[in-house]
Amino acid sequence: MTKSLQRNSTTPTEFRAVDPTAAELQSHPEYFAGSIPPAIRPAYWSMREIRSRLQAMADDPQWDGNTRYLSLRSTDGPNNSTIPTMWVTIHLLKPGERIDMHRHTPGSMYYIISGSGYSTIDEYRIDWEDGDSFSCPSYSYHEHWNTGDRDVLMYTVQDAPTYAYNRMMAFQAGDSEAMESLHK
Ligand SMILES: [Fe+2]
Repeated sequence: MTKSLQRNSTTPTEFRAVDPTAAELQSHPEYFAGSIPPAIRPAYWSMREIRSRLQAMADDPQWDGNTRYLSLRSTDGPNNSTIPTMWVTIHLLKPGERIDMHRHTPGSMYYIISGSGYSTIDEYRIDWEDGDSFSCPSYSYHEHWNTGDRDVLMYTVQDAPTYAYNRMMAFQAGDSEAMESLHK
C-alpha cells in the first residue's frame, strides 16, 4: 500500500524533464580554462562621497533606518559583492532611529564609525560608541538603535555572497513566523 505524499504550500506538484542545455562534458584543459575567475581590480570608495550621498538620503523621506545605506560594490565582482565572498555596507541612522529586529543566514561584523547606541543580538545587549566593533553570528536575531544625539555611521561586513552562491540566502523579519528563502 502506498502512503500518500505529504506536501506543503511551497512543494512542487508538477514536474518536467531537465533542460539538456544545462549540462555539458569538459576535458581536463577545458575545466581549468574556466575554473579560475577573471582578475578583480582593487577598488576604492571615498568616505567624503559616502557621507555626501548618505546625507542626501537622510533628507529624503523615502529612506528610513532599515533602508538608508550604501553598498560598496566592486564592478569586477560577482553578485554585487564588495569582494567575491563579502558584502560591505555603510548605514546612516538618525537620532532615535533603528534597524528593526530581523535575522538572516549570513553573519555580520559591525564597526561604528561615529555615533552611539546599542544593539541586541539574541538575548544579548551591546552598547556601543565611536570606534567600537562587534559581531552578530549567522541566524541570530538582531536590531540596532541610535540612542545618541548624533547621526550613527555604521560599517557592516557580511559573508552574504558566500551564502548566495550556495542558495542559502534567507531572511526573517522579527514580526514574521517564517524564514524566507531569497532564492525563488
Ligand atoms: Fe541584519
